[in-house]
Formats: sequence, structure tokens, C-alpha cells
Amino acid sequence: MTARSDRTRLIAGATRRGAGRRPVSPPVERASTLLNDDPAAMRDETAGPVYGIEDLTAARELRAAVAGLEGAVDAWLVPSGLAAVTVPLLALLRPGDEVLATDALYGPSRRFLNRWLAPRGVSTRFHRAEASIDGILAAVTDRTRVLLIESPASLTFELADVPALAAACRARGVMTVMDNTWAAGLAFRPLAHGVDVSVQALTKYAGGHSDLLMGSIAVADAAAGRQIAGTIEDLGWRVSPDDAWLALRGLRTLPLRYAEQARSALQVAGWLRGRPEVAEVLYPALPGAPAHALWRRDYGGAASLFGVVMKGGDEAAAHALMSALELFGLGYSWGGFESLITHETGQLALRERPPRLAGELLRLHVGLEDPADLIADLEVGLAAWNAALSPG
Ligand SMILES: Cc1ncc(COP(=O)(O)O)c(C=O)c1O
Repeated sequence: MTARSDRTRLIAGATRRGAGRRPVSPPVERASTLLNDDPAAMRDETAGPVYGIEDLTAARELRAAVAGLEGAVDAWLVPSGLAAVTVPLLALLRPGDEVLATDALYGPSRRFLNRWLAPRGVSTRFHRAEASIDGILAAVTDRTRVLLIESPASLTFELADVPALAAACRARGVMTVMDNTWAAGLAFRPLAHGVDVSVQALTKYAGGHSDLLMGSIAVADAAAGRQIAGTIEDLGWRVSPDDAWLALRGLRTLPLRYAEQARSALQVAGWLRGRPEVAEVLYPALPGAPAHALWRRDYGGAASLFGVVMKGGDEAAAHALMSALELFGLGYSWGGFESLITHETGQLALRERPPRLAGELLRLHVGLEDPADLIADLEVGLAAWNAALSPG
């Protein structure tokens, strides 16, 4: 039999679970305490979890589904996407070790490296977001233990040549951890390309409805898995059964939402690129974008999240544009069913080498609305931008 597609496997995961007459979705088990029939049964670990912290049915099914998507030996759940980045670093690094990471890293991940790890003896070198493989490897020292990859990178969407980086790191004994949130475990498979640990914020497309926070950590190798599982156990973390249930429900429709939103995003991004107010659209899936060839080589799809560099402008004009929109929510995050817009104000300045952009930077997340309506909405927003820049 040919290998089944993700959308089939994610649904078959629901219809083929368990035996006997049963609901399609697992029950939400709200439990700290699990009761046993007799004292001997209390020690029987083959009979399932003995305490609520060990992940109950929905979380276990979610873990299995994520591990299946990622091609992992196992996957773990943590309470946020940020925790999915920080836990592997806590598990794998020791004082004296060094991390290498892109300068365009998600801001809170960068903050963890600088504010938490650095005072505890783990230092980070940041490489230029658009550095070549050789440029990145030149920063590897004999203390470098982990390369933290985020691709595409936050806000400016630079794409890394992950297969080449993973192979080069493996040859040097450097482990690779990749934040793969943009690909949602679908469009790119880090573990199949030699990455050791693939993490994502399930908060985004897997959840898909902007109503939960969760992260997943998937590993190709059982030894790394033991370190990560032990760290989660030691930290005492688990996710709520309700959130696990919601994320599992989100996963059933993830491939369809993801593909549909990418189709719309491509239309919206292409339209924006043709507008005189726009200097550049930062979206690897857009033909002609920097890294488009690399995206075509490695990716089987795209997120509906991209950057828009305006020609000049100022904060007042960006705010006028955003305020004029009726369909784009003004909110952080992405991956939900609704379109969102943000205006970048401070994060780029935190980079060691902030990019020189032609103007204000907006980030758009395209949801499941009709793209023609979104484009009409943006047209109104751009009129407000123009009016703000040349009043009267
Ligand atoms: C690339 C990336 N990784 C991780 C996260 C963190 O996810 P969470 O908000 O669930 O902590 C985000 C959130 O925006 C993100 O953009």
C-alpha cells in the first residue's frame, strides 16, 4: 500500500483508536488522581498513567499524532511554544557550553538565551540571519553544543539551508534544534532532514482557533528523547486535558486549513507586492522572493504568515492603515482561522545586526476569509496609509 497522506493519517488516527463502541473524540479526563481496584494495581505501570501529570488519553493521542507527523520516535507536550524551545536547551546544555542561533530568532527565545542561560554559564553566538552555511559554521567553536535553527526566521523570514546545516553540525558533534512552527509539522520535516529535535508552537496552526497555548517537542533519537522527557518530568510540567483535547481536534483539519490559508496568503502577498506603497514582501513561497528556490527545494507547503516592507512611512501611517482595516484583527500570534496584522516596533532593534529596511514593517497572517475580501480591505488600509502620509 502506498504511504497515506497527512490528511488521511490524521483522521484515521481518530476513527481507528480503541475498540468497542466509543466516541470519535476521546473524553476530556480532568484528573490529578486516578483510582485503583486494589493495592497491587497501584504499582502496575502497564495499566496506564498512575497520576494526572503523566498525560491522560487526549494528551497521549495528541503526542502520538504529532510524533507521526514529525516522523519522530516520540513527542512531548509543553504549556507553550516558547517552552518547546526552552526545554530542549535546558535538557541538552551544561555550563560552559555554547549555543549558536540566528540573529533573527523569535524574540522570547532570544530573551531566554540572554536572560536565563547566559547568567548560568551557557553563552550564545548569534549569526547573521542570511549567513551562508560556511559563515554559520565559522562561528562553531569547540564549546558549541547546539545550533538553534528557526526557519523561516521571525519577522524577516530568512530561510536556512537546513539539510546542509544539519549534516555539517552532525559531522562536528553539534546538535540541532529547530523551531519549525511556520511549517506546522506539515510543510517541512526537520527530522527527515537530519535535525535532532523539532519543536513547534501548537498554539498556531495545530490549535488553529486562537484559543490555546501549547508546544510540542519531537525527536528522532531515543537518547535525546530521554533527556527531554526527564527535563519535562523534573520541571513538573504538563498541559491541561482541555487544551490537549482542543489541539487534537485542531489537528484533524490542520492540513486543509494550512493549505487553504497558504493559497489565500499567496494571492494577498502577490497583490501587495504589486502595490506602489510596498517595497518588498517577505514570503519565501512568493515566486521571485529571496530564498524562493530554497523553499521550493525543501518545502511542500507554506504558512500564511509573511512580512510586508513598506516604502518609507512612519508609525502614524502604519497605525492609520491598521485602524482602517475591518477584517484583519490587531493581535499578536498567528495560525488561527482569522486574519491578523501587527506593526513591528521594537524587536528588530534587539538584533545584533538589525536589517536595513526600506520602510515600516508589517506582518500579516492570512486566515480563512475570502482572499478577495481581504484584498479589498487592504486597499482601504493603503488609502488610509497614503492619506496619513500626505494629508489634505
Ligand atoms: C516562531 C515562533 N516560535 C515560538 C513561538 C511561541 O509560541 P507560544 O506563543 O505558544 O509560546 C512563536 C509565537 O509567536 C513563534 O512565532
